[in-house]
Amino acid sequence: MDESIIHGFSKYNKQQRIDALIQKYGFQEDLVGWLATFENPNAAIQKIIDDLSENPVSSFPFPFSIAPNFVVNGKNLFFPLVSEESSVVAALSNAAGFWARRGGFHAEILGTEKKGQVHFCWNGNPEYLQSLFPEIRSKLLAESALLTAKMDERGGGITGIELKSLPHILPNYYQLDASFETCDAMGANFINSCLEQFGKSLQEFFQTSSKVSAGQRECEVIMAILSNYTPESRVRAWVECPIVDLLDGKTEAECLHFARKMEQAVRISQVDVSRAVTHNKGIFNGIDALAVATGNDFRAIEACGHAFAARNGQYAGLTDIQIQDGKFRFSIELALAVGVVGGVTAVHPLAKLAMQILDQPSAKELMMYMSIAGLASNFGAVKALVSVGIQRGHMKMHLSNIMNQLQVPEDQRAKIQAYFYDKTVSYSAVEEYWLAVK
Ligand code: MEV
Repeated sequence: MDESIIHGFSKYNKQQRIDALIQKYGFQEDLVGWLATFENPNAAIQKIIDDLSENPVSSFPFPFSIAPNFVVNGKNLFFPLVSEESSVVAALSNAAGFWARRGGFHAEILGTEKKGQVHFCWNGNPEYLQSLFPEIRSKLLAESALLTAKMDERGGGITGIELKSLPHILPNYYQLDASFETCDAMGANFINSCLEQFGKSLQEFFQTSSKVSAGQRECEVIMAILSNYTPESRVRAWVECPIVDLLDGKTEAECLHFARKMEQAVRISQVDVSRAVTHNKGIFNGIDALAVATGNDFRAIEACGHAFAARNGQYAGLTDIQIQDGKFRFSIELALAVGVVGGVTAVHPLAKLAMQILDQPSAKELMMYMSIAGLASNFGAVKALVSVGIQRGHMKMHLSNIMNQLQVPEDQRAKIQAYFYDKTVSYSAVEEYWLAVK
């Protein structure tokens, strides 16, 4: 037996886990105290954080930031953002202020339907199964009624169940394809509970129905799970202004030139996958930052967004630009599913604060805010790319990180910043300059 394999690690307490870490890697004993410095002094809060995951040895802090001046359908908000990437918050803040002076952001919800499937195998005639399906559907709805009662009261619930016959794709393969309305919840637990119940009811139908022949009673449920692809849970956001107002203090020709360059950059993201991925990464810089701050599942949001970006058969940029009748319009359409009740949103103290900062939004409002965070982030990135380039902003932030690494005292930083104002920032260049002047 391999002696190095640890059994029952999840049963260790925090001290035992840290001891194991010290033993395995030879860290100094003071690791315990050092790890503790990242934890919340309030034990009740730290317990909430620890309970979000398994096997914690400490907490991993990221900056919790604010981007002001987001005017959304006329309402002025601060956006709470959690990002470890320098310049994301600055880009969002700049874009928010820029568009606040040009009428702000607009957004609308195009749908809120979520989906899930029971994937199963059955060895029988697809047409015959379709003919039995109305009866099966009634059974599924009746036997999940207890699970859906609360959601029904809130105006949500199961909105449809279809049988998809797919033996032409995989032998004996079928799906129950169900649609749900989950109101202000992300709804993962609700959807998965309903789907698992559907799976049981379906199997029972095959085992007990007089309409199923003895040789065809075997229905194997492969899995029952929500889909993170929610193409019918959709939001659109946009900004617009006269082209002549696009750049402060610039001529009409300069504004038009800028608008055309932005348009070309967006078109490139729509035809070239290499650019599309980076373009969309910039969009998710904003969306993820707001998703993390509000305790939403950013992996689900990203997975859905990237699948949506490929909905027409080619992966493409998610934003669009129209230049028409002297107007510049920059927009985004996204498939997105979020929740504002339950989960991390309800327990993480900073996620709760983030929701307060956003004025306790409904799920629909949060969908709008997230799409706007994506649009703002993309506007900031592409604006920089087609004008001064991305490195100026990035390097300013990067310089501050490097100065932190070099432990440059606060009162020495302005000198270094001034020196690197028009020079290329790299760790070695900053280190060399710092060693020379300190
Ligand atoms: C960096 O995190 C994001 C950008 O690369 C996005 C883009 O290129 O559009 C700047």
